[in-house]
Amino acid sequence: MPDLATLKVTSLYNRNNPYSAKIRENRLLNTKGSAKDTRHIVIELGSAGPTYVCGDSLGVLPRSPAPLVDLFLTKLGLSGDAALAETIASSTAINRASKRFVRMAAAKAPASPGRDRLQAVCAEETKLDAYVADRDTVDVLTDAKGLRLDPAELPALLPKIAPRLYSIASSPDYRPGEVHLTVAVVKYTTHGRPKQGLASGYLADLHPSDSVPVYVQPTRHFHLPAPDRDMIMVGPGTGIAPFRAFLQHRHHYGHPGRNWLFFGDQHAAYDFLYEKELTEAHKAGLLHKLSTAFSRDQTEKIYVQHRMLEEGAELWRWLESGAYFYVCGNAHRMDKDVHAALLEIVAKHGGRTPEQAEEYLSVTLAKTEQRYLKDVY
Ligand SMILES: Cc1cc2nc3c(=O)[nH]c(=O)nc-3n(C[C@H](O)[C@H](O)[C@H](O)COP(=O)(O)OP(=O)(O)OC[C@H]3O[C@@H](n4cnc5c(N)ncnc54)[C@H](O)[C@@H]3O)c2cc1C
Ligand SMILES: NC(=O)c1ccc[n+]([C@@H]2O[C@H](COP(=O)([O-])OP(=O)(O)OC[C@H]3O[C@@H](n4cnc5c(N)ncnc54)[C@H](OP(=O)(O)O)[C@@H]3O)[C@@H](O)[C@H]2O)c1
Repeated sequence: MPDLATLKVTSLYNRNNPYSAKIRENRLLNTKGSAKDTRHIVIELGSAGPTYVCGDSLGVLPRSPAPLVDLFLTKLGLSGDAALAETIASSTAINRASKRFVRMAAAKAPASPGRDRLQAVCAEETKLDAYVADRDTVDVLTDAKGLRLDPAELPALLPKIAPRLYSIASSPDYRPGEVHLTVAVVKYTTHGRPKQGLASGYLADLHPSDSVPVYVQPTRHFHLPAPDRDMIMVGPGTGIAPFRAFLQHRHHYGHPGRNWLFFGDQHAAYDFLYEKELTEAHKAGLLHKLSTAFSRDQTEKIYVQHRMLEEGAELWRWLESGAYFYVCGNAHRMDKDVHAALLEIVAKHGGRTPEQAEEYLSVTLAKTEQRYLKDVY
């Protein structure tokens, strides 16, 4: 139970009033040869910053990168206006094209083949959807060549920067005054220019002692179980983050519950995030079982749910003896596929029909006993 003083400090900071923290470390977790750029970021909270518990997320308020702001303003004939550049960088998101911005550019650009194209795109919603899907504002200005806007009106034409959440990868008791993140940097090239996600790109470019505005977003449900309860944790890719925090916490307090981690990523040689820590935790007995699935080390895809199925009998025994089941990571399809594997395990090893298995997972485990917990994004 936190004391009143702690509660007061926690509630001071939020998305409208973030804490200005300092970067302590920004390290690449993938090795040479990887297709990915995943960062381990350590942020100092000191004694004045917000407090958190394992399972919470950290809100980060990013800035738009200076080179992109510069290119954007140059295209509009507004380069050299330092105050405007600061407003754009600190408050507007220009790394994605909004429909509103495209419509405005189509209406106001001087006549050109690019402007005609923009107007054709705006005439049909499906075309507009496809147009904005992989473009940023600079791509729009390339089509709207010669567009000139009133600098005073420009910020209001752009979406405001929104904070992004990152699952906290450290235990505040094991690493006091710090918060750790595991960040997959969004990177892709479209229309001839490399692009980055706003917040992940911003974090990737930060150096030790740079400032970063943050706040804690408390979790409502993704908490550690009682010390003696077993945990099964499924966390492919950056989904590992909260489980690193959980393991640090259990190590720090010597909790007796057993811990089983399913981790997966593309290649064992390049993408085994926190490999040393996890294999050492396994050897030391903190991690009772470590099941890995490297999807691109062979021709057929092997994912975490395939490893779950291979160990279905054992996984069922853990569930039957009261283990908590946690899932964290990219929500694209993974959580649904993990759920389907779990259904198969419950049906096969628990001797249930598919309907009974669904009832067991969605009602008994998830709702009544609250030991099937997801944090997917
Ligand atoms: C509770 C919670 C916890 C989270 N925890 C983590 C975590 O621990 N680690 C982590 O890395 N993330 C985590 N996330 C996700 C994180 O909040 C951000 O959504 C993520 O970092 C992307 O944000 P961004 O600002 O970098 O990218 P944005 O600027 O938001 O850009 C992302 C967008 O870029 C576009 N895009 C991406 N790839 C392509 C492509 N190839 N071609 C064309 N367009 C493309 C897509 O439209 C995509 O939606 C979490 C999210 C939530 C809600
Ligand atoms: N909503 C979104 O689209 C969204 C949200 C967050 C992040 N992302 C993107 O994801 C990138 C990386 O995220 P991440 O590092 O956390 O890793 P990730 O992409 O989630 O991948 C981690 C591992 O999960 C595998 N995987 C893919 N589909 C799966 C499924 N259905 N079930 C189980 N495993 C599956 C991947 O295999 P393969 O890669 O071989 O398929 C990889 O081995 C980010 O850079 C961002 O671009 C997208």
